[in-house]
Amino acid sequence: MAEETNKEIKTIGVLTSGGDAPGMNAAIRAVVRMAIARGLKVKGIKKGYQGLLNEEIIDMGTKDVSDIIQRGGTVLGTARSMEFKTPEGQKKGAEICKKHGIDGMVVIGGDGSYRGAQALSRNGINTIGLPGTIDLDIACTEYTIGFDTAVNTAMQAIDKVKDTSASHERCSVIEVMGRNAGYIALWCGIANGAEDILIPEKYDFNEQNIINNIIANRRRGKTHHIVINAEGIGHSVSMARRIEAATGIETRATILGYMQRGGQPTAKDRYYASIMGAYAVDILLQGKTNRVVGFSKGEFVDYDIEEALNMVKGINEYQFEVAHLLSY
Ligand code: ADP
Ligand code: F6P
Repeated sequence: MAEETNKEIKTIGVLTSGGDAPGMNAAIRAVVRMAIARGLKVKGIKKGYQGLLNEEIIDMGTKDVSDIIQRGGTVLGTARSMEFKTPEGQKKGAEICKKHGIDGMVVIGGDGSYRGAQALSRNGINTIGLPGTIDLDIACTEYTIGFDTAVNTAMQAIDKVKDTSASHERCSVIEVMGRNAGYIALWCGIANGAEDILIPEKYDFNEQNIINNIIANRRRGKTHHIVINAEGIGHSVSMARRIEAATGIETRATILGYMQRGGQPTAKDRYYASIMGAYAVDILLQGKTNRVVGFSKGEFVDYDIEEALNMVKGINEYQFEVAHLLSY
């Protein structure tokens, strides 16, 4: 259900919240430049909701976002704020917005950040969320800012590990990020031609299957065996030890970690983040609030935040089956 107000928007605030993601800068730039193009003022809030509570608020002009579209991270900084999870903190945040003349807000972050956006909306600040997370774990959208860059970074790293793994005829357990979601693992599993792909949505914790697969592959003459393990399953080091003990094949664990969150955003992340940032400004100008922007079936769209948070995203069965069948 669309919530709309008649409040005229004159000044837009923008903040990044939760884990950073490549492409957040493109989104910030788009919010700033689109708002200015539409005759509005823009304030940047540093360090997420905590920065709002600390009144770390700066005026932003077109020049302030020059030369940032190609940079990883977020020029506004990001943080996690316990204080903003409390009703008092949320009320204080809205009051600070009003004090600084901010009548519309764009929050770039994951689903935790949307809860904060809902709270600001409830407290009278028209607020729009943009999906900023490398995990792709937001149900209302087929695209999240940062996923494309993260998956490409992970893919390139895994290619490198695969080279050395083949030279030494080793098995490699490579852990990729994704909190409780297996999208980075699934995409790398296909893109890197991994022999096993372990994702939290599907894993049955039967390690013997992996061990049997490794032994069978070695008998078939494969010189390497890549197991991509999602962070949501974790324990890659002990898994590698157990695999080595059971198969007699040297096995190493590599945890890719934060490298997946940094680096220059891909063209896709720059492009989609730019359109989403501009779109957020335009729906604020239409009087919308408590909405989140998504990409679905080839279109940029927006949903009520509660509706978006209640949606459930599953791993596509067919794609998961293909990943498995192509690994032989
Ligand atoms: P992400 O946005 O990447 O999911 P978090 O879950 O850590 O990251 O949320 C980012 C921030 O959003 C939190 O530190 C907090 O300030 C705010 N937030 C999270 N949950 C809530 C909530 N239920 N109510 C208000 N604010 C919240
Ligand atoms: O949500 C993005 C993400 O990088 C997850 O993949 C990971 O679980 C989490 O953030 C790590 O968060 P932190 O920055 O708090 O260590």
